Amino acid sequence: DSQSKLQLVDKHIGVFPDFPKKGILFRDICPLLKDPAALTASIDLFEEHVKKNYPQVEFIVGLDARGFLFGPLLAQRLGIGFILVRKKGKLPGSTVSVAYELEYGTAEVEIQEDAVAPGQKVLLIDDLLATGGTLFAACELMRKQQAEVLGCMVVIELKELNGKDRLKPHSVFSLVRY
Ligand code: PRP
Ligand code: ADE
Repeated sequence: DSQSKLQLVDKHIGVFPDFPKKGILFRDICPLLKDPAALTASIDLFEEHVKKNYPQVEFIVGLDARGFLFGPLLAQRLGIGFILVRKKGKLPGSTVSVAYELEYGTAEVEIQEDAVAPGQKVLLIDDLLATGGTLFAACELMRKQQAEVLGCMVVIELKELNGKDRLKPHSVFSLVRY
């Protein structure tokens, strides 16, 4: 059931104090990727959430780099396509970009200009929500391209950084919260 799947996911999140900088408590998804049952459980939970709440979704949009580990697996389950939001300078052709700040630095994300068409319905996915800067920038990209963001999904939400507030009015679905 869902409860045991959530426990399985939770059990496979590692934790490292002071990485990549002093004061950051880093939550590591590598154990989750390494365990096929736990990884399957995480995708099952996302799939259930999407089928129940967003049956109209047309694309899963994943964030560079760790969103790429979950997004395509989920998109395949749903039988829909996957779109990449990448760190700047990695995508060929015409692109659109947005700059943002994160818990330990700054960055810029971009998508190919023709990645989404106006009105298309998307769900964004990443491994982790911290300040929400990354997902906010991705939402901005979607807004620029006039795609409709149905919601955001993450494996891990770090509650004290209030990323959920930053993303309002978009909804955030998380599997585990710390
Ligand atoms: C991490 C994480 C999220 C983001 C969350 O990615 O994977 O994408 O930070 O932080 P925020 O909510 O404060 O924006 P990072 O930028 O470290 O890059 P990576 O995925 O390439 O490791
Ligand atoms: N990205 C931003 N903050 C993070 C954290 N505390 N652990 C893992 N990834 C992160």
